[in-house]
Amino acid sequence: MLRFILTFMKKLWGGRFKERTESSVESFTESVSFDARLWKQDIEGSIAHVKMLGRQKIISSKDCNLIIKGLKEISCEIQNGKFRFHESLEDVHMNIEHALIRKIGPAGGKVHTARSRNDQVSLDIRLYLRDEIKAVIKLIQRIQKILVSLAEKNIDIIMPGYTHLQRAQPVLLAHHLLAYYEMLGRDRERLGDCLVRVNVMPLGAAALAGSTLPIDRKYVARLLKFPAVSENSIDTVSDRDFVIEFISASALIMTHLSRFSEELIIWNSEEFRFVDLPDAYTTGSSIMPQKKNPDLLELTRGKTGRVYGSLMSLLTVMKGLPLAYNRDMQEDKEPLFDTVDTLRSCLTVLSAMLPKIRFNKTEMFKATEAGFLTATDIAEYLVEKGLPFRDAHRITGEIVKYCIDKGKTLEQLTLVELKKYSKLISKEIVGRISVADSVSRRTSYGGTSKKVVLQRIRKIKSKK
Ligand code: ARG
Repeated sequence: MLRFILTFMKKLWGGRFKERTESSVESFTESVSFDARLWKQDIEGSIAHVKMLGRQKIISSKDCNLIIKGLKEISCEIQNGKFRFHESLEDVHMNIEHALIRKIGPAGGKVHTARSRNDQVSLDIRLYLRDEIKAVIKLIQRIQKILVSLAEKNIDIIMPGYTHLQRAQPVLLAHHLLAYYEMLGRDRERLGDCLVRVNVMPLGAAALAGSTLPIDRKYVARLLKFPAVSENSIDTVSDRDFVIEFISASALIMTHLSRFSEELIIWNSEEFRFVDLPDAYTTGSSIMPQKKNPDLLELTRGKTGRVYGSLMSLLTVMKGLPLAYNRDMQEDKEPLFDTVDTLRSCLTVLSAMLPKIRFNKTEMFKATEAGFLTATDIAEYLVEKGLPFRDAHRITGEIVKYCIDKGKTLEQLTLVELKKYSKLISKEIVGRISVADSVSRRTSYGGTSKKVVLQRIRKIKSKK
């Protein structure tokens, strides 16, 4: 029965229509099933808008107060789960406006003065997104902090650094972890940058051309704490760059989280055994009783695909649109919301799990012992002795070949054996071949020596 009544509910835009909307059209065009999430922002924006209308004497202060009171009541109802959104009323904007009119009568019909849903929806998304960006930045900061403390705690762990997933040179685990600190730092910067463009007040662009009424857009911006007002009404209602920018920044964050997850998955494997993941953050297998799977990390890696998909989806939605607003743009919300949810959940679980990971010092060090990881050190030693790097590289390559033939590590070579390859080699080379020396001598700026890594940690900590 209720559904029957609702189907016949008069549309707010129903004036010029002779026939009522097909119910299949209503289900196809509705967005309230997902944009109801913007109710708070919608009401906040309407209150600011109405205050401006009152101040500019476009509506009476009596109506202004009545509308604000009504909107606040609706806000409470939604909060308390007492409000019903209706598909037939299309979207969050019309649902709230409709409820307002029912609640306070004709004065409610004034809320939409000098406004269109085209600028209203942009405002709602911007209000929503600026809060979300700040929340995501906080989550990233939390992970960065954890990385720094893990780096500090494990400052003496040496592991192989890899290129091509082949053991390359020994590095500090701390240095490797801080690589992610730097990536996440750039991610934060990108979000902060994006926020500047999100934080622009669009209301007053109306449908696309502005308004004939004496609105004060700057006042609305002040009320809603926007540092800037959009410059061109056509651009304002056509623009979703800021959403694309956010999803793009999010896609990069996911890239970083995915790479980190991938490494932890590999490190957790029986083949590596570099880390032990906490039981509480792993799952078992339904058939193999012995299994402890890194699903949380795998899902983070997997969910990266959703965010990339959202980016591609919104870019595609926007690419062919003539100015100004087109209904296609309603397709911005689901990718945006999904991105926010995915990002937040991945960052949250990772930050809960990270501090509980145990790094296996012995295994990591053991892995540096095979693979001739200090070969570059020998080459650089020969460079110090005056040899051109190319020659030093060739000679060291021959030494490695010799080791392979003899089944020896570089450290096991005697001075006599080494000297056969170059008369420049003397006994100081002994202090250059060990893994520990290799790490501690890499003191170039940004390098992996303990001294440099600790300097970086100190600098990071002093920034806060
Ligand atoms: N639900 C719409 C959206 O999300 C709101 C704007 C609709 N504007 C319009 N003229 N139909 O884009």
